[in-house]
Amino acid sequence: MDKPVIIQKRSLKLEMDPGTYFWCACGKSKDQPFCDGSHKGTKFMPEEVVIEEKQIFPWCMCRYSDKGARCDNKHRSEERRV
Ligand code: FES
Repeated sequence: MDKPVIIQKRSLKLEMDPGTYFWCACGKSKDQPFCDGSHKGTKFMPEEVVIEEKQIFPWCMCRYSDKGARCDNKHRSEERRV
């Protein structure tokens, strides 16, 4: 598995309580957007995300964001066209 699985070509905005979360970087988790351990055996590792205060967080679901777990709208760019 060289490339992550693209779940959808837009972010997933969720209201998040303060806490520590592990974003799925491989796209194989059945508990999107969070890691469920399905990355084992791949080169991917989850990203730890610490949320300090309650907020709407735009989780990256295409896995090409330059900001890791946070969507940066890369899924809209021409070069990626994911
Ligand atoms: Fe995808 Fe853990 S299941 S990074």
